[in-house]
Amino acid sequence: MSKVKAAVFASGTGSNFQAMLDEDDFPCEIVLLVSDQEQAGVLKKAMQHGIETFVFSAKDYESKEAYEAEIAEQLKRKGIEWVFLAGYMRLIGPTLLQAYEGKIVNIHPSYLPAFPGKDAIGQAFEAGVRQTGVTVHFIDEGMDTGPIIRQEAVSILANDTKETLQKRIQKVEHRLYPQVIRELIQK
Ligand code: GRF
Repeated sequence: MSKVKAAVFASGTGSNFQAMLDEDDFPCEIVLLVSDQEQAGVLKKAMQHGIETFVFSAKDYESKEAYEAEIAEQLKRKGIEWVFLAGYMRLIGPTLLQAYEGKIVNIHPSYLPAFPGKDAIGQAFEAGVRQTGVTVHFIDEGMDTGPIIRQEAVSILANDTKETLQKRIQKVEHRLYPQVIRELIQK
């Protein structure tokens, strides 16, 4: 079966991106990594795997619409069908949402709708709840509000630190995201 072309948008270390690359027989080929952070660790990972990158700085554009139009143009030119967000710290605007309706997916490190936004792991830890989790969801114009595809709960243990909790959450992310992507693509 020929592989479906996908792009990953990421601004951080890229461990979720790496998890996709490490999958055996992953049904999509990641042909572009988009980042708004030129120092992001994920860029090194893309280069090591020979994956093309598009790095932009929002301040070089007059509007979100302008940089998203450029991104959308590149995605279409490369025949990309799916976009997977993995630590991309910007809201997706109408330009990309319309160009890739129902084809932009995100992973968030909490059991949404609890703890949306930045530092979701820290938010859950500070709140003193006994359970948080991981959510894979479609993107809409809101902050972590799009339709939920799959969730998995992660317990917060009495002796957890934020770091140990983060490790367990990431372990779940690295298994769950590629698995959900496989199911979406094979539908
Ligand atoms: C992940 O926790 C993901 O859920 C969130 O951003 C983080 C990215 O981590 N959206 P990494 O760069 O993939 O390690």
